[in-house]
Amino acid sequence: MPDDSLRSRAWNDNPQARYWWHDLPGNDYIPPIYSDLAETEWITLCEWYDETDRNGPIGECAVPLISLLHGLVMGNRASRIVQLGTCAGYSALLLGWMLRRMNAAHGLFSLDLNPAMCEMSRRWITRAGLENFVEIAEGNSLDAQSPIAAKKYLGGDPELIIVDSSHEYQATLEELDLWYAALAPGALLVLHDVSRFAAEFDVTQQGGVGRAFAEWRKAHPGMESFCLNGDARTMELPRPFYKDACGVGLIHKPL
Ligand SMILES: C[S@@+](CC[C@H](N)C(=O)[O-])C[C@H]1O[C@@H](n2cnc3c(N)ncnc32)[C@H](O)[C@@H]1O
Repeated sequence: MPDDSLRSRAWNDNPQARYWWHDLPGNDYIPPIYSDLAETEWITLCEWYDETDRNGPIGECAVPLISLLHGLVMGNRASRIVQLGTCAGYSALLLGWMLRRMNAAHGLFSLDLNPAMCEMSRRWITRAGLENFVEIAEGNSLDAQSPIAAKKYLGGDPELIIVDSSHEYQATLEELDLWYAALAPGALLVLHDVSRFAAEFDVTQQGGVGRAFAEWRKAHPGMESFCLNGDARTMELPRPFYKDACGVGLIHKPL
């Protein structure tokens, strides 16, 4: 049984790379993404960490991005969310618990092309009691049918789209075209891994999400967009204000 008074502070000295945020100087506090969880939710998350520590996969975003998403969702009652790239289900669980607190059923459509990832994350969504709030869909984010399926599940155009999938340059360009068109007017698209450091995640070695985001912004000069940590090249200290060296990009669709 995890120590509920410590919660994520118990990870402060954990040497595994996925816990890097908890080891940063001064981060000896519990961020609201974890302190806001009910005790049963926290226990489920600890069990999820135990299983994925043992067997993987480890591919989830970290505290800076999920906290940013948490703020956007809770502060605006975002109730039509799409995530491209589910992996083992970390963000799907944390967003799902937020949606449950907000009583926003059918609020997250989370897509992954890997059947094993879908099976695993679906199992955790069921264990967390979130079946009415999160759909784990198996499919390719580049498929023109995917935005149609998302809209059908959410009951309208997405208000928030989180892109965290292949990290390949060409695929990300295609995702931007397809999913920007699906976004509701006034809504937001968030891209994980836009930094120079994260360009390494592109298995095609063509510059990754960062290059795609930069070119897409250039091709759409009227667009409101923003990039945090695009120049970050390393996970080493000292870190800039936004602590995730993978960086984040935001695109706001005008009304
Ligand atoms: C970095 S992980 C996602 C982590 C997740 N967003 C989180 O924070 O918990 C990337 C996932 O994207 C999936 N993926 C890669 N290319 C994809 C595509 N074209 N369509 C759908 N999923 C894709 C992979 O199978 C992998 O599980």
